[in-house]
Amino acid sequence: MPKFVPSLGRVGRALIALAALVLLSGCEWNFWRMDGHQSTMVVDGPVAREQLRVFYVTCWVTLFIFIVVGSVLAYTMIKFRAKSEADEHAEPPPQSHGNPLIELGLIGASVLALVIIAVPTLKAIWVTYDLPEPERKNAYAVTATGYQWWFKFEYPNEQAAVDNTGTKAPLVTGNELVIPAGRPVRINLRTVDVIHSFWVPKLAGKVDMIPNRANVIWLQADQPGYFWGQCAEYCGDSHAVMRFRVIALAEKDFAEWRDRQLAVARAVAATAADAARPRTQVTALRAFHRNEVGVTAKFDQNPLEAWRAKQQPAGNEDAALIAQGRQLFTTKTCNACHTVRGHGAMGVQGPDLTHMGSRTTIAAGLIENNSEQLRRWIRDPESVKPGNKMAKAYRENKISLNDEEQVAIVAYLESLK
Ligand code: CUA
Repeated sequence: MPKFVPSLGRVGRALIALAALVLLSGCEWNFWRMDGHQSTMVVDGPVAREQLRVFYVTCWVTLFIFIVVGSVLAYTMIKFRAKSEADEHAEPPPQSHGNPLIELGLIGASVLALVIIAVPTLKAIWVTYDLPEPERKNAYAVTATGYQWWFKFEYPNEQAAVDNTGTKAPLVTGNELVIPAGRPVRINLRTVDVIHSFWVPKLAGKVDMIPNRANVIWLQADQPGYFWGQCAEYCGDSHAVMRFRVIALAEKDFAEWRDRQLAVARAVAATAADAARPRTQVTALRAFHRNEVGVTAKFDQNPLEAWRAKQQPAGNEDAALIAQGRQLFTTKTCNACHTVRGHGAMGVQGPDLTHMGSRTTIAAGLIENNSEQLRRWIRDPESVKPGNKMAKAYRENKISLNDEEQVAIVAYLESLK
């Protein structure tokens, strides 16, 4: 008898172990809601919502098929199983090609299931592909360009001061895309090197950034918020850490942010008295592991507040140290790759740093923009983001920064609000 009964004990034990694992793996509310920073299950915009709807329709239809087919299979396995030693050695029953009615019915049911999935899918393709004509014109325009391994964001309709002579050019930022909330944003997707992919899980995605191809994505944030973005196409060594952020702001906040960004970089004047004062040292570099995520709990819990706090200059600035950092930015040739509008730095290989101190993250969204992490990044970029161009430039041009120089450059970059 035991020979014909499957070992339910083993299956049962496996199920209990699985349940225990699920219970132990995360008792946090966000785990059960499936609401992480990059969740596609709890969304904050119409495009992501449309995509989620397709996911659910597909899920429910396939779950229904699974239950029907599984039940029929289980029923036949139990009802027609060998019940005795004699059954086991008996001839199989006469075989047939089945019942035409059942076969036609199954074909019909399959077609019906595909149609049920196809209708919302086609609608979603239509909705997410691009905005309809009147809204397309009114959408806020941005151009996002992928680089190995960071994102450049250009605002074609916002004219920023290039220098102190009144020359203007479209506003450029890096790795943090600030947008107006509640308004469609239409993003031109470009790349300067390989294929990247633009993905903000809670808002929209993914659309590839392909060389010589003008792709477009549109998205909208329902409310002001702070969203995690990620390159979603393998693009080399540091693909996994090619991240970015989207900060959606209420209309008034957005206008204020834009006005601050349009200005040239902030200049901190140092007097002779500043130079004579003893230097306040920036935090020491702590030990870290390769690709370790460098975000503090405080930042993680309320990133939008952390972003707001970054917009104004710190009260305890060391003007002399900042002046020294500004000078080093030129003598160490940082200006060859980075732009700081108004400070004579016009490089375009790396991210624009004109208002770098107002961003929450550095190294393409990998680590938090604070003194400790910033120093870690400029001291040894290779260990933070393997293969990156800044590390290559350090090696090729034999650039090294001693402790004091690191601290001064950190102070300078942090002053760029
Ligand atoms: Cu860029 Cu992956």
